[in-house]
Amino acid sequence: MRVYFDNAATTPLDPEVLKEMYKVMESQFGNPSSIHAHGREARTLIERSRKTIANLLHTSPAEIFFTSGGTEADNMAIKCGIVDHGLKHAITSRLEHHAVLHTLEAMEKAGVIKLSFVDTDHKGNVDYAHLEKLLQDNERSFVSLMHANNEIGTLTDIERVGELCEQYNALFHSDTVQTMGHFPHDLSKLKVHFLVCAAHKLHGPKGVGFLHINHRIKIKPMIHGGSQERNMRGGTENVYGIAGLAKALDMAYADMEAHQAHIQGLKSYMLEQLKAEIPGVSFNGETDPGKSLYTVLNVSFPEMDMADMLLFNLDIAGISASGGSACSSGTDIGSHVLTAIGANPSRASVRFSFSKYSNKEEVDFTVAKLKDVCLVKA
Ligand SMILES: Cc1ncc(COP(=O)(O)O)c(C=O)c1O
Repeated sequence: MRVYFDNAATTPLDPEVLKEMYKVMESQFGNPSSIHAHGREARTLIERSRKTIANLLHTSPAEIFFTSGGTEADNMAIKCGIVDHGLKHAITSRLEHHAVLHTLEAMEKAGVIKLSFVDTDHKGNVDYAHLEKLLQDNERSFVSLMHANNEIGTLTDIERVGELCEQYNALFHSDTVQTMGHFPHDLSKLKVHFLVCAAHKLHGPKGVGFLHINHRIKIKPMIHGGSQERNMRGGTENVYGIAGLAKALDMAYADMEAHQAHIQGLKSYMLEQLKAEIPGVSFNGETDPGKSLYTVLNVSFPEMDMADMLLFNLDIAGISASGGSACSSGTDIGSHVLTAIGANPSRASVRFSFSKYSNKEEVDFTVAKLKDVCLVKA
């Protein structure tokens, strides 16, 4: 048996998505910027995809801009949101994805902004009172806080953050890469200026995603070139990627509740099995449904021999998962997220992340292998 429990890194392509993309690759090869019939056909396909996505998110197609994925969308929101609005202060957390953290840090280093970090607790929860204080003290900030943490799964209340940002006249960007297609985002209600999607996290293709930009704010393009994406992102569109993204999101929304129940069931089951079978095991981040992304379970193992070989040994045993440990002082390797929540650096941590294709047999297999692999010290 070979188990794939690394769905937060990427998900397998859904065969229906592949079919859709194949159809486009085979017959709709026109350049969407060409004015002839082949071009118009490709253009129609892109605009139909944009409309599908906008309808699912309860927004207008004019607010959806296709990108090469999550990293580009995060960069565009942050760089253009800050520069084009003349903002001098940004607020984020130490738990953000590097697509956000490194972008903001580079801007601080270049002298464009002063960067503040909101306090977070040992489970990765944002301290909303501290966030409010930072907003009070720094008028017109740019706030970037992710919806679900990709390593530990802890959720941020982005509705609450949106309210606070509105109150203090801040721009709000949320990296929703891990929740897009897994939680219903209603953009007619959510007070957010920028949201992000990467298709490969929801059984779509790699190298395509989108940035949602609220119609009330305007930014200039980050990538200059042709007039694609209404002059907001130069470059010939990834037509079959965009078609695959729309299909994947459409399918994700159609079956979201069933998938959530199935995956949450597996996560809870694995958590209970691990507690029963591996003495001393604990979990990084929130695990309560409602506070935690149902696709992610981050496990902290008791101290063991060759802890740094755990992922390798799991791989040999037929299980693909990922993770790391907190950085011990003075080293620069390891997980910045686990370090930020104060996880014990001498304990190995593994992120198991599930999808609609995961099943109970795979959980049983993994727990049994973990028992073998974890030569738990007495
Ligand atoms: C939270 C988060 N943000 C951004 C990204 C980057 O997305 P992409 O791989 O599409 O560039 C990822 C992917 O791992 C992610 O998990």
